[in-house]
Amino acid sequence: MDFKEYWAIVERDHTIQNPSSPEKLMLLADYCGVRDGLRVLDIGSGKGWLLRTWASRWAISGTGVEINPWFVAEARERARAEGVAGRVHFVEQPALQFTPDPEGYDVVLCIGASFALGSSDDAVLWMRQVLRPGGVLAIGEPFFTEIPLPEAALVELGMKPDSLRDLHGIVGALDAQGLELQGLIVASQDDWDRYENPKWRAAYRWAAEHPEHPERDDLLQRVSRARRNYLRWERRYIGWGIFVTRPVPGS
Ligand SMILES: C[S@@+](CC[C@H](N)C(=O)[O-])C[C@H]1O[C@@H](n2cnc3c(N)ncnc32)[C@H](O)[C@@H]1O
Repeated sequence: MDFKEYWAIVERDHTIQNPSSPEKLMLLADYCGVRDGLRVLDIGSGKGWLLRTWASRWAISGTGVEINPWFVAEARERARAEGVAGRVHFVEQPALQFTPDPEGYDVVLCIGASFALGSSDDAVLWMRQVLRPGGVLAIGEPFFTEIPLPEAALVELGMKPDSLRDLHGIVGALDAQGLELQGLIVASQDDWDRYENPKWRAAYRWAAEHPEHPERDDLLQRVSRARRNYLRWERRYIGWGIFVTRPVPGS
């Protein structure tokens, strides 16, 4: 089973596919100054909750870029059902193969998908290049809540000590790229749990529906490993935030 099918199964019940909440994603709209007429690009748009919800409130023109065909299909279907298909469209493509509109975008988002553009620094660089003057760049990233992490956590999570930054480190890296932090939205423990729990339930339900599937046991083992890592380490040591920035004038 490839990663796209795995994620389609474990996130079958998710609408928002990151540790956030509808309220926080509307706060994000506020921090980004979303209003009628803006052009919004969302890299790794998943099922398109953010673009669809914003488009139902404002006359934006939204583009989502997403590699997973299951998520793209659901995003398009929901956009049609919600009557916003004329305002948002979803491109099924790896982010790095997407050709951005040369006119640029007023808001460029990458919420939990910076790896699709390389490293987090690569993502910021790419996003900046497609931003219109006066535009807003918002990136959702995990961060370490404590540094250094216990050695056992690094080993079990398969991480290098420098693979994540803490909050201060992320803001420093944004600064170094000429971006001013204008807003920060951090996931609570409840947000994390609300994002992780439905994966376990979805996996068990899928396994019950597919008792003969050749990869049933592999999927259950993978979910069980991920749950163990979450409960033992990630829930405590890894935070998640959305960083809303604007280029420093003249930078
Ligand atoms: C953590 S989810 C976030 C989804 C969405 N931004 C949200 O917050 O609800 C990351 C998304 O990035 C997508 N993705 C992963 N690699 C990608 C790539 N190379 N190009 C485009 N999208 C990618 C995944 O399929 C997934 O939908």
